[in-house]
Amino acid sequence: MAIKRHSSSENSNPNPPKKKKKSSRAAQKKLSNSLVTPTASAEDSKIENDGIRPHRLKDYIGQKELKDVLKIAISAALKRKESMDHLLLYGPPGLGKTTMSLIIASEMGSDCKITAAPALERPRDISGLLVNLKPGDVLFIDEIHRLNHTAEEILYPAMEDYRIDITVGKGQSARTRSIGLNPFTLVGATTKAGSLSSPLRDRFGLIQRLRFYEIDELSEIILRTAKILKQTIETDAATEIARRARGTPRIANRLLRRVRDYVEVEGASTITLGGASDAMDKLNVDKQGLDWSDRLILTTLIENFRGGPVGLETLAAATGEDTKTIEEVLEPYLLQIGFLNRTSRGRVATEQAYSHLGYI
Ligand code: ADE
Repeated sequence: MAIKRHSSSENSNPNPPKKKKKSSRAAQKKLSNSLVTPTASAEDSKIENDGIRPHRLKDYIGQKELKDVLKIAISAALKRKESMDHLLLYGPPGLGKTTMSLIIASEMGSDCKITAAPALERPRDISGLLVNLKPGDVLFIDEIHRLNHTAEEILYPAMEDYRIDITVGKGQSARTRSIGLNPFTLVGATTKAGSLSSPLRDRFGLIQRLRFYEIDELSEIILRTAKILKQTIETDAATEIARRARGTPRIANRLLRRVRDYVEVEGASTITLGGASDAMDKLNVDKQGLDWSDRLILTTLIENFRGGPVGLETLAAATGEDTKTIEEVLEPYLLQIGFLNRTSRGRVATEQAYSHLGYI
């Protein structure tokens, strides 16, 4: 994945790490070799390859509050020739957390390394990543709520003092060595801010939520993506795709690709409203953007549990979905559009859900 940006030399922080002793340098070399491979989903890397992701804040559509906060944090950091404060981004998947992290690196004139908590299982995974950071680099850790305790303990001094403490040797000769790190910015991303331990959460200077996008914002994103893909599209077709994209740019761009495939096979060169609607109907994405899985959750709630309340585990068992997918992927949008409620006794389908699905 092309996540490297131009060199960080002009904007690098002037505080170099302290000179290291010989033994810790050897330990550092060993750790460098265990650098974890940056991770990204197939869809993400495809999007990156197509050059669809915006690279600068000015090209990023939506999330105005977040952009306003970041503009100030980035300008202040550049003025002081320091790296930006650590940032925690939370919100449902697909709203642009990785993109924002890449943009921060671009704006700071530095590189972004991307990884995810499940890839940082052993202490040397995270230590290896940290010691390899260049001054001012951005380290993006996805699903940061899934970091294990040891990895978290390594991150604390790294975030606070740009150093890690590692144990060298074994048994009686075991000693703790401090390794200085280059100043860096950690961007943590999570769909579950509440699952982060408070010591970790407290070490982020900036904590920001990404919200679902409005239809006009998604429509603008679709028009921008279509332009990059050299695909002509009518404005009302972009709006129709936006309406069915569940407030999520990743889904909007994915739908656009599928619609593009459909119209191409149909022999049309432009995406019209009719073409877009037909394609999405064929894909089983309804007028509200609900797909087969969303409808299954709601119809199961309505038909098997008289609309609820029903516990998450029971709903998962009845639908064959896992609890994490229901909680983190399907539910947030159903809650947002008012089709589902979470109560202390479980999930409940709302009147709007009954009406949308034709029960009333
Ligand atoms: N592509 C995906 N998300 C985007 C956004 N927020 N702005 C512009 N293009 C995007």
